[in-house]
Order: sequence, then structure tokens, then C-alpha cells
Amino acid sequence: MKDVYFVGAIRTAVGKKNGALSSWRPDELFAEVLKGLLGQASVEPSEIEDVICGIVTQVGEQGFVVPRLASLVAGFPETVPGVTVNRQCGSSLTAINMAAAYIASGMRDVVVAGGCEIMSKFAIGAEWFGATLNNGQPAGMPFGPKYLERVGQLTDQGQAAEMIAEKWGISKEECDEFAYNSHQRAAKATQNGLFDREILPLEVEDGEGGKRVHKTDETIRPDTSMEKLAGLKTVFGTKMITAGNSSPISDGASAVLMMSGDKVKELGVKPLARFVGSAVTGADPVLMLTGPIRATELVLNKTGLAMDDLDVIEINEAFSPVPLAWGKEHHPDWEKVNPNGGAISLGHPVGNSGCRLTVTAIHELHRTHKRYGMITLCTGGGMAPATIIENVR
Ligand SMILES: CC(C)(COP(=O)(O)OP(=O)(O)OC[C@H]1O[C@@H](n2cnc3c(N)ncnc32)[C@H](O)[C@@H]1OP(=O)(O)O)[C@@H](O)C(=O)NCCC(=O)NCCS
Repeated sequence: MKDVYFVGAIRTAVGKKNGALSSWRPDELFAEVLKGLLGQASVEPSEIEDVICGIVTQVGEQGFVVPRLASLVAGFPETVPGVTVNRQCGSSLTAINMAAAYIASGMRDVVVAGGCEIMSKFAIGAEWFGATLNNGQPAGMPFGPKYLERVGQLTDQGQAAEMIAEKWGISKEECDEFAYNSHQRAAKATQNGLFDREILPLEVEDGEGGKRVHKTDETIRPDTSMEKLAGLKTVFGTKMITAGNSSPISDGASAVLMMSGDKVKELGVKPLARFVGSAVTGADPVLMLTGPIRATELVLNKTGLAMDDLDVIEINEAFSPVPLAWGKEHHPDWEKVNPNGGAISLGHPVGNSGCRLTVTAIHELHRTHKRYGMITLCTGGGMAPATIIENVR
């Protein structure tokens, strides 16, 4: 197998619901990220053999093949193709893992992987709610009677999060404390400029007919407190899940440029990180969000590494019980877990998050001069990809 490197890693600052990125078209937003990525890496777009982009809600402007449209909008040669992948919240980490497999096998040398999601416009499920068949009848739900017979019941993510909390004995207070710390970490990281190297500043509308530069994640609440979190009403028909201990609806895009070791030498570029290995698993479709537990075991086994070898762990904070239950199984050093906050504070534009976490992990490893990073996310339908990277700078 060939060595696989990351030679560029960039993201937009996350936009809050109806915030800075909410009026953007996905193809135009992803085009900005593609241009920023190639500029950061100093690589010509004609080198790109494919653009793999994770998108969950593939409907309307966010339908067709956004990465193909985006590379043309970016002014890249027409020879640059694109493909969209959907593994729910694991989509863009899957894009990265697929790009790595292409390159490791020798089938491609230069691939862009990324993610894009404007949740403000395209709500989860928008591709089936309200969709119609040619005959005007409702298009129907993806979850059919035989599927329901197999899984027993259909849970939404919030209900699944509460079931996980109950199963692992996690209290509402622990959930709120986790959320509070996420905001504190993200606020501190932002204040100290830790995201500056990974964020592509974008000119956006200021809402008053003018323009402004969007370069700060909008979902962080530096002034939240345990009292405020405790006072929020519960959602999803649960007793403990609130807007405070859930990841917020948000918008964003990100991308990484991945290359074979041979191509790195040929172009004389300086890699940021090495792709070490990946895993993916299915898990209980009702509890749904527990996949990272097994994905972590698998990726550690496949790479021959142990939890103690990992310096930065980015586990997606879809809801507080997800990382907390994972932690009860894997007993991590919590200082290494989401050190600069996670999805609860930094947002979770679903198709974008796996790549966003990878971009953040790469830059955090550089900043701290540490070696290994792991990224993992739970997904709708009960799956989880995981990836390990190594700092090579
Ligand atoms: C949980 C959820 C339903 C909340 O939606 P919402 O009600 O529109 O959320 P908001 O951001 O408006 O927050 C609701 C209220 O809580 C407040 N709030 C939220 N987080 C807070 C915090 N950390 N501290 C203090 N107040 C907070 C907001 O200010 C708002 O107050 P207001 O009603 O007085 O304006 C939505 O964010 C959601 O669906 N999240 C999960 C998305 C998802 O499933 N992703 C995939 C995961 S697998």
C-alpha cells in the first residue's frame, strides 16, 4: 500500500442557524473552500483526480453532485470530477477514508475530500418530507415495514441520546457540565486564535445591505453557565436532552487535499499529516449513536496503536451522552478529548463535521507538536467511521 498524506486542510468558520452562511448556495460555498485549499497547499487544480464530498441532505441546491458543480464554479479545469457520499454525520470522514483507500491502492494520486452542509436551508429529512413521486403521491419514508420489523422501533437522535444516557448511567448534570466545558474550551481557543490557521475567512452579507468578514465560529456561547443550561426546556420528548446539551443546527464546509507519497515528492510539497488507518462499523440502530465505541476499538486494532498513543481525540459531540458513554468504555485522558471544544459549541453541519474535526485535529497536532490524532463520529442509522492521522511536521 502507498503512503497517504494530507497536504492541505481548511474549513469555514461554522455559521449558526440563520447566521452568516445560511443564505449561501452549497456549490458556491464549497467552491470557496476548494480555492482556499489549493491556495493553502500551493497545488494546481489540474492535479486533482477526484473531489469526494460528504453531504447528508441531498436535495434542491444541495442535490445533484455539489463537488462537481463546485469545482467548475471555482474555475477548476473541466477534467476535475466530483462525487457525493452520504453516511449521515459520518459522511465527510467517510469521504476522507475513501480518498485514502483510492490513494493507498495506487488508483489515484491526488484527491480532495471534504464536506458541506447548510442545515439552515436543508433540514435533516428534507429529501423525503414533502418529496413527491411522478404521480404526485408522497415519495415515502426510507424506513419501511421490513426495516422496522428488524429494528423494532424508530428513534430520533435526541431520544437515542437519552437512551444512551440511561444505559450508561449518565446524569443530566453530567451532560450539562460536558456542554459547559465544550463552550469554555471553544471560547478560549477562539480567544487565543487557535483556529486562525484552519479557518478560511469569507466575505458574507452583514444583514444591513453591506459586507463583513466571517471568520469566527458563531455557535459558541462563552457566557453560558450551569444555571442557564439547567434552565433550558427539554426537547425531542425527552427528560434530559436540551438545546444546551445537543449540537446546534449549523452551516459550514471544509476540505482536505490528500496525496500519495510519490506525488508529494514529485510536486515537492510539504505534507501536514499522514493517514495512518481507518475503520467503520455498524452498531445498534435504535441506540444509534454508540458506534464510536466499537469504531475506536477497530481503528486502534487495525493500526496497532493504543488509547495512550493518541494525543488528540476528536469525537463528535452530537449530544453530550455520546462522548460521555464512549468515555465510560474507553477511559480517555479527557484533556486530550476535543481540547478546543466540539460540536455542542462549534456546531455540527452534519455532512461537514467529519472533515471539520479532521482539519481541527491536524492543526492542533501541529500547534502542540504532538503525534497521533483520532477522529470518530456517530451517525444516523447506527454507524461510525474512525480515522487515525499522524503529524509529520
Ligand atoms: C436541540 C434543537 C432541537 C434545539 O433547537 P432550537 O430550539 O432551535 O435551538 P436554539 O439554538 O434556538 O436554542 C433554544 C433556546 O435555548 C437557548 N440555548 C441554547 N443553548 C444554550 C446554552 N448553551 N446556554 C444558554 N442558552 C442556550 C437559546 O438561546 C434559545 O433560547 P431562546 O428560546 O430564549 O431564544 C436543535 O438544535 C437540534 O435539532 N439539534 C440536534 C441536531 C441533530 O440532530 N444533529 C444530528 C446529530 S446526530
